[in-house]
Parts: sequence; C-alpha cells; structure tokens
Amino acid sequence: MLRFLSPSRFPRPPIIDECNTMSAIVIKSHGAVDVLEYDEKWPCPKPRNDNSQVIIDIIAAGVNPVDVKMRKNIISNIVYPKPKIIGSDFSGIVINAPKTGEFKVGDKVYGMLPLLGSPFGSYCGRCCIDPEILAKAPTTITMIEAASLPLVSCTVIQALKPVIEQYNGNCKGKKVFISCGSGGVGVIAIQYCAKVLQMNVTTTASTRNFDLLYSLGASTCIDYHTNKIEEVIKDFDVFFDTMGYNNEKLVLNKNYSILRNDIVTHYIRIASSPYNSNEKDFLHLAIPEARVDRVATGFMKQFYHNIFSKIKYHFVFVVPNKLHLEEMTNHVNNGLVKCVIQEKMKLVDARRAHTILEDGHVTGKLVLVVNDHIDS
Ligand SMILES: NC(=O)c1ccc[n+]([C@@H]2O[C@H](COP(=O)([O-])OP(=O)(O)OC[C@H]3O[C@@H](n4cnc5c(N)ncnc54)[C@H](OP(=O)(O)O)[C@@H]3O)[C@@H](O)[C@H]2O)c1
Repeated sequence: MLRFLSPSRFPRPPIIDECNTMSAIVIKSHGAVDVLEYDEKWPCPKPRNDNSQVIIDIIAAGVNPVDVKMRKNIISNIVYPKPKIIGSDFSGIVINAPKTGEFKVGDKVYGMLPLLGSPFGSYCGRCCIDPEILAKAPTTITMIEAASLPLVSCTVIQALKPVIEQYNGNCKGKKVFISCGSGGVGVIAIQYCAKVLQMNVTTTASTRNFDLLYSLGASTCIDYHTNKIEEVIKDFDVFFDTMGYNNEKLVLNKNYSILRNDIVTHYIRIASSPYNSNEKDFLHLAIPEARVDRVATGFMKQFYHNIFSKIKYHFVFVVPNKLHLEEMTNHVNNGLVKCVIQEKMKLVDARRAHTILEDGHVTGKLVLVVNDHIDS
C-alpha cells in the first residue's frame, strides 16, 4: 500500500514555457480516439524555479494501454489536468540539467513520466523530469527502441521483486506462467524471467506469435484460443497475470492446482482491465483497475494471503523508478533483453496507434517517433 502512495507517482509538474513551442498530441477532454489532437505549436514545459529538473528533447514516445484508458474515461479529468499532453514513456537527449547532477547535455536518456497530476506528457517534443526517476538509455539499441521500454520494464521488475526476495535471488528452474506473452508487458516479462532469472517460462498467445516467444526464451507456448488455462497449467511456482479479471478466481481455486500446493507459491496480479470495458460509476476513478474499491480489495488480499496462505498475492501498480530503469539498461546492454516493436509511427499518427492498441492484439509495442532527425 505504501508503495502505491510513493512520491514518484505524484510529480512536481513543470510549468509552461511562454517562449518556446513544440509539436504535441493534446487532449482537451476525455473520449474516443478523435479527442487526440495534433498541435504543432503547443507550449513547451520548463522546470520550476528551483532548476532541479532535467530538460529533454524527446526522440520517441512509447504507447501504453494506460494512455488509451486515461484518454477514454471521464473521471480522468480529476487526476489529469486538461488540456493535457498524453503519454508517459519517452527516450530523448538532455538539453539542460542541474549543474551538479549526474546528467549532462547530450546524454541519451529514457524514462517514464509520472501518470498523475501533470498537464505534460511524452507524446510531444520536450519534457522535464526529476533526475531521481531518469536513467541513461541502453547503448546497444536505437533510441526509438529505448522508448518502448520504461513502463513495461518497471512493471516487470517491480512485479517480480518479492518473488526474487522469497527465493533469495535464486529463481533458476522455477516454473513461471506469464499471461499475454506477446503483449507489451509479456515480451519483457518472458525475457526477464527466462534470460535474467533463468526460470522455466510457459506463456499464452496466438499461434502466429509462438516463434517470436520461443526466441525470447519461452519454453512452452499455449494458444489461448483453443485451451483453457485451468486445464493445461498445473503445479506452477509463479503465475504472472496481466489478465487478473479473467484468471484470478481460477488461480486461487485450489481445485485446479494451477499453483503448487505443497510449497509457497506466488500469484502476481498486474492491475489491468480489458480495453473494451465500458464501466461507468462513481467509483470508477480513471481506469477500471484504479477503482478505489478494487485497489483496496487488491491490497487487502495481498495482506491476507501473505499472512494466511501458501499462495503469496502481489498486487502491482507500476511506479517510475530509476534503479529499475538502470537495471534494464544493463540487461539490454548485456544482450539479455531485446525490444519487440510491432510498428513505429509518426507523432501525428497517435490516433492510429491508439486504434490499433485498443484492438488488443499488438505484438510487443507501438512507438511514436517525434524527432527522427535526432540521432536514433
Ligand atoms: N498495473 C500496472 O502497473 C500495469 C502496468 C503495465 C500494464 N498494465 C496492464 O496490463 C495489461 C496488459 O498490458 P500490455 O501492455 O501487455 O497490453 P497489450 O500489449 O495491449 O497486450 C496485447 C496482447 O495481449 C494478447 N492477448 C489478448 N487477449 C488475450 C488472452 N485472452 N489471452 C492471452 N493473451 C491475450 C494479445 O495476443 P495475440 O495478439 O497473440 O492474440 C496481444 O499480444 C493492460 O490491461 C495494461 O493496462 C498494468
């Protein structure tokens, strides 16, 4: 619960730079994909007076499901001041930084802007960010690829941290099931579990994606169109779930033995919801998984299971984290993790990107290229 209330979730927003403009994708109200407006002369952000933030010219912005969900839902107006530049993930080049800090002009960096509270986002030409949540980008991939990594990398590392602790850092050979293996989270989770932690990975996807997922390190791929997980997944050590709304009841039902019942096991629920959810009610804070009752229930289940059950329950809401970005930089530079990008598009194509993502079948990530004349 305390991690959910982390300060890096609530940014110190930059202020408007009256002198400079940039291209940006802006929403002035919630709604369908056509609320995304391309503006070539939107005011840039600049750091607050204390000059503690790094200013970055953005090269590319990763597209995440949370961008789509925040765009669509009415109550996001409370947590998202409008008009708002949408987006969180970015890669870019430092153009100004605090004099005494670790970042210098010209550094190639990547990061995840906090999701709440700021009118600025990453689908644009420039951002300002606290150095405490920024990291140097990997050097072995393009900056367009780097933009696909921050949010999903932080999610995967944060989700698996308690599992790694439980096994005293040695997860080798443990059996992990990862749902939605070909999605943005899945392709990183598979590589992190298989290549970094040396776990034995089983995943679900459409058959057309199997070759890709085997190449990323999966040992077994199961087509979710023709199989039921409760019939084919038995006696696992860890269940990494991006579809808790479908799977949680099955996993926690001991009759199915999806998780082993002779030792401590882990159910990791990444807070999530289907794209086509049309829920609208007073508890519906911004996106269905962020409903206050669901967040509270999630943390209560975590508390209950961690004391009374052999199935340890982990409820995950990603938060920007510099150490986790730096860890991913190392894994990429060491060749353990690679990026999977279905398509890179121009910033002006943001509506098309959201339309494709909402369909729910992107393989890996979509990335918006903002400044392709900068070295990428
Ligand atoms: N709480 C957090 O901190 C957090 C962080 C990150 C993401 N999330 C949430 O996690 C969810 C997944 O994120 P994502 O970025 O991975 O989404 P995504 O990239 O849109 O996932 C698309 C993938 O899902 C697969 N898929 C669709 N239906 C499936 C099913 N029934 N069984 C198995 N796979 C299925 C598709 O596979 P095929 O194309 O092969 O059919 C596609 O590759 C989203 O709801 C997102 O909001 C939460």
